[in-house]
Amino acid sequence: MKTEIIDLRNNSDEEIFKKLQEYYLDNKLIAIPTETVYGLSADASSEDAVKKIYLAKGRPSDNPLIVHFYKISQVSPIVEIDNAYVKKLIDNFWPGPMTLILALKNKNLISKSVRAGLDTLAIRMPNDNIARKILKHTKLLLAAPSANISGKPSPTKFEHVYNDLNNKIDVIIKGNDSHIGLESTVIDCTKFPFVVARPGSITLKDIEKLLGEGNIVYNKENNMEKPASPGMKYRHYSTNGDLIIVDEKLENILEKLRLKNNKFALITYKKYKNLLKDTPFKVKYLAEDEENIEEANKNLYNILRECDIENIEEIYILKLKETDKNKALLNRINKASSKK
Ligand code: TXA
Ligand code: MG
Repeated sequence: MKTEIIDLRNNSDEEIFKKLQEYYLDNKLIAIPTETVYGLSADASSEDAVKKIYLAKGRPSDNPLIVHFYKISQVSPIVEIDNAYVKKLIDNFWPGPMTLILALKNKNLISKSVRAGLDTLAIRMPNDNIARKILKHTKLLLAAPSANISGKPSPTKFEHVYNDLNNKIDVIIKGNDSHIGLESTVIDCTKFPFVVARPGSITLKDIEKLLGEGNIVYNKENNMEKPASPGMKYRHYSTNGDLIIVDEKLENILEKLRLKNNKFALITYKKYKNLLKDTPFKVKYLAEDEENIEEANKNLYNILRECDIENIEEIYILKLKETDKNKALLNRINKASSKK
């Protein structure tokens, strides 16, 4: 299959959106930019189109997808949003990097494969400019997981999608780099207290401030028999080489690394630049320092993908102390490292 590349960064012609709408109605797969990560989208009402998403990604069919939409009136007939806490979340965080898992009201408007047969549905209103234009003009509900091959780091740049999916899907929309860089915060609103099923840039504290203490809790991540989000049990974000988290001072690690002779890299912070001047191995900078979490979130997946392109066999990264703010970053690093 030849993949069509459409650059929408400086082009908003009506014609293009009409063509995209036709493509969707023809069950085509279209990768689109969003502010979190690029998504692999298809018409959420079409069973055939949605099945193609699972196939293209190599995604297990019991791992449900998120439905993306433009305005609330599109989803209010489908899911239960009539709840004071849900309304607060919607008013505060949409459009934006938040996904809500809600009880299904009407099973007929969404393909069964989107929700992997569950009686709940995950929905998100993205705020990336291009994603919003596509959703607005096509007037469709779009099912979209991250636009990577299952198990690989999610794509935060057009090039990442191209490397994974060129010639496997119909269209890749070229947009800007994802400015957040980690997937959305997933909140399960079918339980009470609500559960953060996947941490993201909107943190538990942000949600707690809005809903009040005790009304939102973290999913117990080790409870993998009954994960709040089925996707959390699968192998994720993996590099070809091993990602190794080290709990030592940088100076000590440098001594050890100098003795190694395989191809490896160190992921660290720009504030250590002087210490790392003449190292014989690759150094990748996650951010200025540990406090710059947004910068680190945005860079992580690109760095992991660079390591693969450079055939790095071992990637070392310093262990960080977990805080509310860096929880999502550490969740992705731990998963990439555990290869589970
Ligand atoms: O930022 C994002 O959320 C990106 C962009 C493209 O929107 N999408 C994304 O999708 O990360 P995906 O498919 O890679 O992750 C969706 C997560 C998975 O962990 C999945 O198991 C969970 O959401 N999920 C989806 N529907 C669910 C449901 N009904 N119940 C529980 N978890 C659900
Ligand atoms: Mg994903």
